Amino acid sequence: MFRALVLEKPEGGPATAALRDLDDSALPAGEVTVAVEYSTLNYKDGLCLSPTGGGLVRAWPHVAGIDFAGTVLDSLDPRYAPGDKVVLTGWRVGEVHWGGYAQKARVKADWLVPLRDPATRQAMAVGTAGLTSQLAIQALEDHGLTPSKGEVLVTGAAGGVGSVAVALLAHAGYQVAAVTGRPEMEAYLRPLGAPRIIPRADLAETVKRPLESETWAGCIDAVGGAMLARILGQLKYGASVASVGLAGGTALPASVIPFLLRGVNILGIDSVMQPFPARQRAWAAIAKGLDLGLLDSMIQPATLSDLPALGAAILKGEVKGRVVVDVNG
Ligand SMILES: NC(=O)c1ccc[n+]([C@@H]2O[C@H](COP(=O)([O-])OP(=O)(O)OC[C@H]3O[C@@H](n4cnc5c(N)ncnc54)[C@H](OP(=O)(O)O)[C@@H]3O)[C@@H](O)[C@H]2O)c1
Repeated sequence: MFRALVLEKPEGGPATAALRDLDDSALPAGEVTVAVEYSTLNYKDGLCLSPTGGGLVRAWPHVAGIDFAGTVLDSLDPRYAPGDKVVLTGWRVGEVHWGGYAQKARVKADWLVPLRDPATRQAMAVGTAGLTSQLAIQALEDHGLTPSKGEVLVTGAAGGVGSVAVALLAHAGYQVAAVTGRPEMEAYLRPLGAPRIIPRADLAETVKRPLESETWAGCIDAVGGAMLARILGQLKYGASVASVGLAGGTALPASVIPFLLRGVNILGIDSVMQPFPARQRAWAAIAKGLDLGLLDSMIQPATLSDLPALGAAILKGEVKGRVVVDVNG
């Protein structure tokens, strides 16, 4: 038997979550069975945990959790053997496939990444949020960003993607400016590596003029909407913004003028369907480029029973840093 946070939804009613004891016959088909040690909470998990499943969950009963890390129990695939430490992010696990909010998971071998440094708790402190931050940095650097080009803006900075982005950028030698809507997060964000804090309200209005003064050498944007539109007009000539999220909205009320007169770029970042080599490259870069003390300062510990409340909180932008869920806690 193993414990899982099971989401159940009666016809026409809202989904609710309950801790249940399941046996292995409940696990979905897959090549590798994993004893999950830790999972985490991303914005998308908040959607999956919501009463409607956020449009992502298609069938109930469902086990959410888009990320997990743990130890292989058995494997039909020669790449994995019992005892191996592994991490999983994305591949629509936790959305259309059963995910990590359980003590056991069964998935395709292709979806796993071996954990070189077998710290499953740290891997979940990184999770999809941290992997996405690293993918965004790689995309910006592939498009010419270097520390000498100037300040890099991070929006939604006190959230999961934002926190890891600030720490990774600062460690790599970038000058980071962090946008937050929570003034009380200044004392959290400065030690992560953001000497300059910008109130969300300064960037919240829709574009006034299509071009403002050239300020940012790059940007990692977790917010989208009017803020992303505004940032386009503030990028330096030829600079890029990595569009990662939609915490502030999906519409983009922008002008094409910054593209035409300043040659700026929007780089789309998707962490879910990244092929294995790109995942390996990103996890290796995170292992090298993330200060573990800072990562520790981002962690809010939780258990499976905390998740329904935390899921609602992350959708309201109220979670700080990274939640790490001890599924055995
Ligand atoms: N593309 C991908 O593969 C990928 C992967 C992971 C996440 N994402 C997306 O990235 C975004 C962030 O994810 P996350 O897990 O880091 O979530 P999160 O922890 O909730 O962080 C989002 C942050 O955005 C800010 N924010 C919230 N509501 C806002 C609003 N209305 N206007 C402006 N800022 C607002 C808040 O930061 P402050 O309080 O500091 O302002 C909040 O902490 C989500 O949209 C998520 O879907 C995409």
